[in-house]
Amino acid sequence: MSPQLTVLFVLIYLHCHIALGSDPDPVQDFCIPNLKVGAILTARLDILPCKNATEVVPEDFVFSGIRLPGNFSDTGLASIPVSPAVFPGLNTLGMSFARVDLKVGGINPPHFHPRATEIVHVVQGQVYSGFVDSANRVFAKVIEGGEVMVFPRGLVHFQMNVGKSPATIFGSFNSQNPGMQRIPSAIFGSGIDDELLEKAFGLSSREIGMMRRRFFPKKVKS
Ligand SMILES: *[C@@H]1O[C@H](CO)[C@@H](O)[C@H](O)[C@H]1NC(C)=O
Ligand SMILES: *[C@@H]1O[C@H](CO)[C@@H](O)[C@H](O)[C@H]1NC(C)=O
Repeated sequence: MSPQLTVLFVLIYLHCHIALGSDPDPVQDFCIPNLKVGAILTARLDILPCKNATEVVPEDFVFSGIRLPGNFSDTGLASIPVSPAVFPGLNTLGMSFARVDLKVGGINPPHFHPRATEIVHVVQGQVYSGFVDSANRVFAKVIEGGEVMVFPRGLVHFQMNVGKSPATIFGSFNSQNPGMQRIPSAIFGSGIDDELLEKAFGLSSREIGMMRRRFFPKKVKS
């Protein structure tokens, strides 16, 4: 292959890689989903029909649902994802947001977002925050009110409130649909065969059973 052709193929490869590496560029100012036409399906946000622009109002670009903390989980975590499903004005803009509150000692368990880099802004509190790179090196430190930290796309990250008061954190994502996998429930709460988990973690079937009961999604009472 001639050097010119090689350069051309590399450029085409890089271009495709970059083009597929983030949400698509918008082809219009905004697209407020028209809920009269179809429900919001998170997997198919990009094909939702838009409201006629003449019907779009300022309120479509404002979200008030993160003034207060959400509901706290067993680990002292309350998170409110601000995606187009709750904030239609974000649709097609390639961004989303979250509010996370941590009780004293509360944790946000190790998790990752397959489709987004995240910047977290600690509004108040002292939060041990970090991520693990693909060489299994951990980058973690305590950050305080007013500081931000970035978690590169797809890398496992975590937070724990190590202060003496509740912590509030805002996170922003460069995807309108970042996706989220919590490591404990992805491993022990997803239904992977027990024998594989026993061999992978060197645990007995009794220990795997304990992990499974802890992380398998609790059945909702009907
Ligand atoms: C949007 O609404 C305006 C005013 O009602 C109307 O004139 C226009 O045809 C509509 N556009 C579309 C694409 O339906
Ligand atoms: C918290 O839980 C209540 C009761 O289940 C629910 O109505 C409310 O929407 C929840 N709040 C958030 C932010 O999810």
